[in-house]
Amino acid sequence: MPVDLSPEALEKGETMIQAKQLVKNYDAFRAVDGVDFDVQKGECFGFLGPNGAGKSTLMKMVYCFSPRSAGELSIFGLDPDLKPAEIKNRIGVVAQTDNLDEQVSVIQNLEIYAGYFGLSRRETKNKIQSLLGFMALEAKSKARIKELSGGLKRRLVIARALLNDPEILILDEPTTGLDPQVRHLIWAKLRELKGQGVTLLLTTHYMEEAHELCDRLLVMDKGKVLDSGKPRDLVQKSMPPYVLELPATLQKNLGALPTAVHMEAHGDKLFLYSTSPDVLEKVAVSLSGEFRIRTTGLEDLFLKLTGRDLHDSD
Ligand SMILES: Nc1ncnc2c1ncn2[C@@H]1O[C@H](COP(=O)(O)OP(=O)(O)OP(=O)(O)O)[C@@H](O)[C@H]1O
Ligand SMILES: [Mg+2]
Repeated sequence: MPVDLSPEALEKGETMIQAKQLVKNYDAFRAVDGVDFDVQKGECFGFLGPNGAGKSTLMKMVYCFSPRSAGELSIFGLDPDLKPAEIKNRIGVVAQTDNLDEQVSVIQNLEIYAGYFGLSRRETKNKIQSLLGFMALEAKSKARIKELSGGLKRRLVIARALLNDPEILILDEPTTGLDPQVRHLIWAKLRELKGQGVTLLLTTHYMEEAHELCDRLLVMDKGKVLDSGKPRDLVQKSMPPYVLELPATLQKNLGALPTAVHMEAHGDKLFLYSTSPDVLEKVAVSLSGEFRIRTTGLEDLFLKLTGRDLHDSD
């Protein structure tokens, strides 16, 4: 059954994860600083932010790997400090780095992991065959981990995370560093899982991934939430729809700008925003060179919120 993600449905939907004023300190350093969010059944919820934003730290608290320092957190209505085993049985985790057993084969990695969930031998075999098929790994089932590309390893880690039929699948940067083909395959699989009613929680620093997959997002930086909402709404409510990006060196060539254009400078670039592409077009043709007018996106929103690029610290 398709999941209804209208605000009304979310309002009365089933809350899978709830965090209030969540804090994580590493000694004197506060990596997560008073974060609120809720994830509803069947949605794909994302944390978007640059390196060091606190995305993995947030996730580790959700998947019961790292205890919170302060605030409230519940998963399936359960407290991870009190009921970690129950929560872990009902979630799947794809951590940021692939933690596979390098010494054994693809299928053995799945068999060893399946052993934690008390499945019968027959159930294990069937489940593994179906997951190898789902993640298009059948041809590699006997391969050793060191023979696998980054994309194949990632697909195996996702298959492994699905062994216990999780209600929530948690993915920390599922496609970082992978080529576009694998990225699209993983996106398609995640959409398929969502269609089956699995709730997805993911982190990313790719705005395209956030747009493609996430119903709602937290935009984060330095442990804090900068904004939250549906990807399109986040951009629409704070940004004019069109932008002309220019090298800052051209500022001297710009005449008086039309009042409908708002200019911001970041680093070595100028951003000219407007509700009208025609107005920007006129500015562009007055300059020598080829300049593209594009629609604004999450990357622009992030720049506006922080003055930095989402990938500045990469
Ligand atoms: N175990 C730890 N001990 C001390 N500091 C840590 C620890 N883990 C993370 N941090 C720090 O907390 C901050 C948030 O880290 P975190 O890994 O959550 O960021 P992130 O958003 O996942 O970044 P990335 O995109 O690079 O994965 C960073 O400044 C990081 O250096
Ligand atoms: Mg991380």
